[in-house]
Amino acid sequence: MKIGVLTGGGDAPGLNAAIRAVARKGLHNGWEVVGLRHGWLGLLEKSELVLDRNSVAGILPRGGTILGTSRTNPYKREGGVALAMRNFKELRLNALIAIGGDDTLGVAHRLSQEGLPIVGVPKTIDNDLSGTDISIGADTVVNEVMRAVDRLHPTAEAHDRVMLVEVMGRDAGWIATLGGMAGGADVILIPEFPFSIDEVCERLRRRHDETRRKFSVVVIAEGARPRDLEDSVVQDSAIDEFGHVRLGGIAHVLGREIEARTGYETRVTVLGHTQRGGSPTAFDRILATRLGVAAVVEVEKGNFGVMVAHVGSEIVPLPLEEGIREMHRVDPRLYEIAQLFS
Ligand code: F6P
Repeated sequence: MKIGVLTGGGDAPGLNAAIRAVARKGLHNGWEVVGLRHGWLGLLEKSELVLDRNSVAGILPRGGTILGTSRTNPYKREGGVALAMRNFKELRLNALIAIGGDDTLGVAHRLSQEGLPIVGVPKTIDNDLSGTDISIGADTVVNEVMRAVDRLHPTAEAHDRVMLVEVMGRDAGWIATLGGMAGGADVILIPEFPFSIDEVCERLRRRHDETRRKFSVVVIAEGARPRDLEDSVVQDSAIDEFGHVRLGGIAHVLGREIEARTGYETRVTVLGHTQRGGSPTAFDRILATRLGVAAVVEVEKGNFGVMVAHVGSEIVPLPLEEGIREMHRVDPRLYEIAQLFS
C-alpha cells in the first residue's frame, strides 16, 4: 500500500503536524508514505518526497509545510486532469490525502468524482470551510491577532491614538472577530458586514467623549469594505488559478479617513503573513494530529471522496462537497456580541 499526501493553498500553522500524523499512522500500518511537493503541482510533475520516521521527526511545532504548497489548479491547465490521473497511476499510489482549503478540496472533490481515491483534510486560517467547526491554522492565527491587539493597546494609550490593525480574511471575518474579541478591540470590521466610515468615526468619537479613554484599537479584515465601495481594496488585480486577487490596503484607506474626519491621530499596522508563519498552538497541533490520523483511517476503510471534519468534539468523515458547499461565514449573533464592546 502506498499513499500520498499534499498541502495546497496558503500555508497554515499545523500543516506539518498533519503531515507528521498522516506519515506516522501510515507507517504504523506498514504502508509506504510519500509527500507530493507544492500541492497539486506535485501530482502534475510527479514530484514526490519519501516520508519516513526521520523526515517527519521534529516538524510538529514548525510553521509552514515541509512539502511546500502552491495554488496550482489542474483544471486550469491544458491536459491537467488527464495528467493528474496518469501520474497517480505511474506513482503507484493507492490513495491520496489532500490537506487544504476550499480551492484544494474543490479540486479533490472533482478528481474524486473522476475516480481518484482521495480523502480531504480541512485547513484554512480563514476558517471559511463548511461542514467542520474549525480548520487547521485558524486557532493559531486568532491567537496571533490577539497578541498583536494586546501589544497595540499600550502604545495607543500612550499616544492617545487610534490604531488600526489589518488582518487576513478574504470572504469571512473569523480572524478579525475572534482575534479582536480576544484582544478587546474597540471596533471590529469584517467582510460579512460592509460598514459606514461615518458610523465608525461616530463610534470612536462616542468612546473618546463618553469615557476617559482617548485611544482606540480597530481590527479590520482585509476583505472588509465600506458600504459605498463595491469591491474590496486590492494590492494587485492579477488573479491566481482559482480566480483570487491579492487583497490588502483597506486599513490605510480607512485610517486616512478616520484621521481626516475626526482629527484623531491614527496609525496602521498590517499583520500580513506574520499571522500565519509561526508555530501552531496546542489546539492546532492536536486538531491536525487527530485529523491526519482520521484521514488515514478513512483510507484503511476505503471510504473515499470524504473530508474528515471537527464536529462538536468528534472527528467525523463527511462528503467532500459538504466542506466546499458554502462559505462558512461569521454568525451574526457572534458579531453582535463583538459589537457590544465598542
Ligand atoms: O486563504 C488564506 C489566506 O491567508 C487569506 O487570508 C489571504 O487573503 C491569502 O491567503 C493570502 O494569500 P497569499 O499568501 O498568496 O498572499
